[in-house]
Amino acid sequence: MTTIGIIGSGNIGSTVARLAVAAGHDVVLSNSRGPHTLQDLVSELGPKARAATAAEAAAAGDVVVVTVPLRAYRDVPVEPLAGKVVIDTNNYYPDRDGVFEELEDGSTTTGELLQKHLPQAHVVKGFNNIWAGHLGDLSRPAGSADRSALPIAGDDEAAKQAVTELFDSLGYDTVDAGPLAENWRTQRDTPVYVSPYGAYGQLPGTQASTQVVREALAAAK
Ligand SMILES: NC(=O)c1ccc[n+]([C@@H]2O[C@H](COP(=O)([O-])OP(=O)(O)OC[C@H]3O[C@@H](n4cnc5c(N)ncnc54)[C@H](OP(=O)(O)O)[C@@H]3O)[C@@H](O)[C@H]2O)c1
Repeated sequence: MTTIGIIGSGNIGSTVARLAVAAGHDVVLSNSRGPHTLQDLVSELGPKARAATAAEAAAAGDVVVVTVPLRAYRDVPVEPLAGKVVIDTNNYYPDRDGVFEELEDGSTTTGELLQKHLPQAHVVKGFNNIWAGHLGDLSRPAGSADRSALPIAGDDEAAKQAVTELFDSLGYDTVDAGPLAENWRTQRDTPVYVSPYGAYGQLPGTQASTQVVREALAAAK
């Protein structure tokens, strides 16, 4: 079993934490306001969860999930993430995050921004294309006929393999979308973004198989 550090414990961070604890992993949660504000969530999750600072969650995790509003990505601690597998869930919403010219002009991607901030980490884009409600709802054991798939993108094959194994334990198949530079294929308003898993905000979700995700990635323009 793995210890998963979580930087950002909102919609996605708390959903990943619930799936991880259900799968038998340990989780270390963090946010911007401090561990004392996460006590209700930690109590709900039970003995496999604890709250810490972002730097402590980064240091504790075998795999670390960065799931903060994009505008806050530069606050993610750098040194404790050196050499680690980092899953980047972040999406760009200029109304929320402010305007990032390099994203507006397509010269980089959200995943590459975090990788540049964390030069010694192995960043893998993942969890960014599914609404948190569907992420919690569509998890299925390996081999289930109605299992869904999630795309990943990253430059380090070993890191992608580690994330694939983690996703498998959390209830999802994985489709490799290629290097981090290809993560525009999973960004906002692409075919694989949110809609394959159902309507945003509506439960239950609908299965998005490996084939559905592969075709949606290929259809991205
Ligand atoms: N919501 C979704 O369904 C969904 C789906 C896919 C991807 N995403 C993307 O995933 C990211 C997180 O989304 P979300 O909906 O989970 O956000 P959220 O519910 O607003 O939660 C954000 C979390 O990040 C924490 N945070 C903010 N600034 C931080 C900092 N400087 N250091 C450490 N933690 C910080 C917040 O802590 P405090 O509350 O203490 O400030 C909060 O726990 C976003 O980039 C979003 O676009 C969201």
